[in-house]
Amino acid sequence: MLQLAYISTSRQPVDQALLDDILAASRRNNVRCGVTGLLVSGGKRFLQVLEGPDQAVLATYARIQNDARHFAFVSLSTKPVEARAFGEWSMAYHQGGAAADGDLVAVVEALAADIADPNLRAQFSGFARLHDQAA
Ligand SMILES: Cc1cc2nc3c(=O)[nH]c(=O)nc-3n(C[C@H](O)[C@H](O)[C@H](O)COP(=O)(O)O)c2cc1C
Repeated sequence: MLQLAYISTSRQPVDQALLDDILAASRRNNVRCGVTGLLVSGGKRFLQVLEGPDQAVLATYARIQNDARHFAFVSLSTKPVEARAFGEWSMAYHQGGAAADGDLVAVVEALAADIADPNLRAQFSGFARLHDQAA
């Protein structure tokens, strides 16, 4: 099982119609291929975690990266996991804080700021810090 996290930037303001469309496609496709995860949006940023069978996660991410509605992908983490962190949802959605421009850690922390679960918040900061070190 693979878990992949990335951030991207929307080409247009993220409104309810765009979110509805993304979440409808996610729920439709992810259920079929065993992918679960979390999508956070704030300002024009998206942060998404995808998890599930390796090939299903990679194929889903490839399709998402081909979606012209967003760009500037930063892969934060790709790692094998024993268990799902977001197994209850084909794609859960969270409205994050408005992610201002800044370094990667600041953007991810802004997105995660409103997440109530401190462990989850720390996990996102960890993704960003790890990526920063890898860069
Ligand atoms: C930020 C963002 C996240 C997305 N997440 C998913 C996803 O988890 N699963 C998915 O199938 N499509 C996702 N999409 C949509 C895909 O890019 C693509 O439009 C969709 O999979 C096409 O599905 P369809 O052929 O069933 O219409 C996402 C798009 C965006 C912009």
